[in-house]
Amino acid sequence: MKSPSRPSVPNEDIAATYDRLATLYDWFVAPLGTKTRQRALELLSIGSDERILEIGCGPGHALVSIARLLDGTSRLIGLDAAPGMIDRANDRAVRSAASDRIELVLGDARSLPIADGAVDVVFVEDTLELFSQEEIHTVLEECDRVLDTGGRIGVVTMEREGAEDDPFVRTYEWIFDHVPGYDRVGCRPIYARRTLEAEGFEIDRRERHRRGYLWPVEILIGHPS
Ligand SMILES: C[S@@+](CC[C@H](N)C(=O)[O-])C[C@H]1O[C@@H](n2cnc3c(N)ncnc32)[C@H](O)[C@@H]1O
Repeated sequence: MKSPSRPSVPNEDIAATYDRLATLYDWFVAPLGTKTRQRALELLSIGSDERILEIGCGPGHALVSIARLLDGTSRLIGLDAAPGMIDRANDRAVRSAASDRIELVLGDARSLPIADGAVDVVFVEDTLELFSQEEIHTVLEECDRVLDTGGRIGVVTMEREGAEDDPFVRTYEWIFDHVPGYDRVGCRPIYARRTLEAEGFEIDRRERHRRGYLWPVEILIGHPS
């Protein structure tokens, strides 16, 4: 089996791409994920007093949806490495009258500036697949560290498991590998379930979806075992 494409540029360059493209991403890309985002949040069954961390929150589409589920006693943190994305998320939070419930943090998923056991839920949408396999290991270790006992994780990613021969996946991977500069976007299909399991997470639910009838995406809900 052909091994998945992997980023050939450092994560810092990938984050810089998202920083530059923050407005375009906010307007044209993030809305494509609305259905899978809402479905993942539904599957996470977030309680109104829970403490939530979104890693790679981008322009904050999930954050404002999560904020609506919470009461004033909870904590909702959106973390991203791109200042442009944090600005967009802040604007969205203000426009949605949710800024009092959302804490935005400029930071790195590989070294979370969050205390051990400080959150009940970690949500990672379209972000895990930006990292190399070694970095995913570090990011998931960090997720495990910040989750409290009984905590859970929700991941939405480009899917590779079971989609290796899918024409969209094959075309996307060809573009990723051959079009100069495209790898600076970072996103590529990954084996998310087996990676989470290898990092000690138990998967409670896996759903397979397609965005725009084309793009295989999976939702994984799990917890540290
Ligand atoms: C594909 S976007 C997804 C944004 C958002 N979750 C969504 O689905 O709309 C990936 C996000 O990960 C962020 N990112 C990249 N490297 C990061 C890192 N090391 N730590 C935290 N965020 C990072 C990027 O800046 C970008 O906002």
